[in-house]
Amino acid sequence: MLTTVPLIFATNNAHKVLEMKHLFGHSFQILSLKEAGIDIDIPEPFDTLEENAVEKCRVIFERTGTTCFAEDTGLEVEAMAGQPGVKTARFAGEHASADQNMDKLLLCMQNKTNRQAQFKTIIALMTVQGERHLFEGVCKGSILAQKQGDGGFGYDPIFLPQGHTRSFAQMSLDEKKAISHRGLAFEKLLRFLQKS
Ligand code: IMP
Repeated sequence: MLTTVPLIFATNNAHKVLEMKHLFGHSFQILSLKEAGIDIDIPEPFDTLEENAVEKCRVIFERTGTTCFAEDTGLEVEAMAGQPGVKTARFAGEHASADQNMDKLLLCMQNKTNRQAQFKTIIALMTVQGERHLFEGVCKGSILAQKQGDGGFGYDPIFLPQGHTRSFAQMSLDEKKAISHRGLAFEKLLRFLQKS
């Protein structure tokens, strides 16, 4: 049973670890890379979220041989033909800060009336038996004209989820969990783990 095995979450992003631990609650033990004693920068060399998520998972599975999962997320903006997409983290440059990325996106969107966008998350799971599974979560919304709120991380201050009046950065972890791309992909992962 997977339930007795700690799962390694293949990320160095402390915000994502916090969100995932919050999402999993007490159902499974989640170990971040740091907690698993693994100190590597995992590359994201591919052109799709799926390939990057699988690659991150594969690298950690090869090192540990234990059940692990990884995720890759992109922000797809309709007026920008789906960009920045897989390049979301590096939109304003290789080591750009969240503020630099958001500022660049706000500039690109300055005169755009269509502000529709979506976050997409792909989670790749590699089981201890070496089986690979993918789970997708999408959250539709729009790009705000300016930053709102100081919670969350990444592009949260400029993303307004559909049907809501507050940005992700103005929501609690519980509120974000219920509607977010990562929350939805995670629900699918959790359902899969629970019946495995
Ligand atoms: P990656 O999946 O770590 O490559 O992240 C891609 C980019 O999307 C990074 O700039 C993240 O900060 C951003 N990102 C990922 N998830 C979220 C989220 O839930 N809210 C806001 N930004 C996010």
